[in-house]
Amino acid sequence: MRIAPNNSGLGARVLNIDLSEPLSSQDFRGVLRALGEYGVLCFPDQDLDAQKLADYGKRFGDLEVNVANLFHAPGLPEVMILSNKRDDAGKPIGLNDAGQGWHTDMSYSHDIALANVLHAKEVPVRDGRPLGDTQFRNQRAAYDDLPAEVKERLEGKVAIHDFQKFWDMMRIRPGSIRGPLTPEQRAKKPPVRQPIFREHPITGKRVLYCNPGYAMFIEGMEKDESDAMLDYLFRHQTQQKYLHSHAWTPGDVLMWDNIGTTHNAMADYGPDEPRFILRVQVMASLDYAALAA
Ligand code: SIN
Repeated sequence: MRIAPNNSGLGARVLNIDLSEPLSSQDFRGVLRALGEYGVLCFPDQDLDAQKLADYGKRFGDLEVNVANLFHAPGLPEVMILSNKRDDAGKPIGLNDAGQGWHTDMSYSHDIALANVLHAKEVPVRDGRPLGDTQFRNQRAAYDDLPAEVKERLEGKVAIHDFQKFWDMMRIRPGSIRGPLTPEQRAKKPPVRQPIFREHPITGKRVLYCNPGYAMFIEGMEKDESDAMLDYLFRHQTQQKYLHSHAWTPGDVLMWDNIGTTHNAMADYGPDEPRFILRVQVMASLDYAALAA
């Protein structure tokens, strides 16, 4: 296995490895360390079915079954289908707007996610250029760069994150196939408290863990103060210098750190430009510091 980091501070390509085979313990540790260090790992030229993708993801922790799991691989509720394609009867076969806005997956959950693992089968291309990039921002660098007085003011503070916030932002957009959350879905994912700064479980380094997709307000602050502070954090964390954009090629497996990055799926392709991606979400259910040591 060879790891080739990008020069942007975020992102690396992982070469000479076949993810359809079980990972050796040495490669497992290498991938885990690289995930902590580079945040977004692209394994090009892979060919995994849904079961193999789930098997790979499971090495790193329990797999989440999404609370609003609209579309998943047959018999595998933990493997979601992200796609704008439709079947012969015109019915959607995947979630067509997953992640289209800056957010961190599972920050709305009491138990948070270590990583997402996506595998691209079809990627839209226009004029020879791939569309539907997934963009990332480096939240370790964003934390490091915060002014000392902001770090001090927010130390130990908690923000409330709500699954419904992002769901409703997507739902009101034209072409959305999302219905309102049912009372049962809502009850499964009530608003949760998340520290604004947290230590990354692989590296032990601090990250800014607050995102515009799910964070609603900062506990213990007046609404105006909380709104202003969140606005400040969201602007700060989306600076260009923290950006890494992944342009997909079919066969890519992309694994990203869901604690030290935020991400956004670019909605720059049309309904007739097919995109088909399989996704698993890996919960932070293991002792990663020990596993990476
Ligand atoms: C996601 O947020 O997990 C979806 C990202 C993508 O489809 O590019």
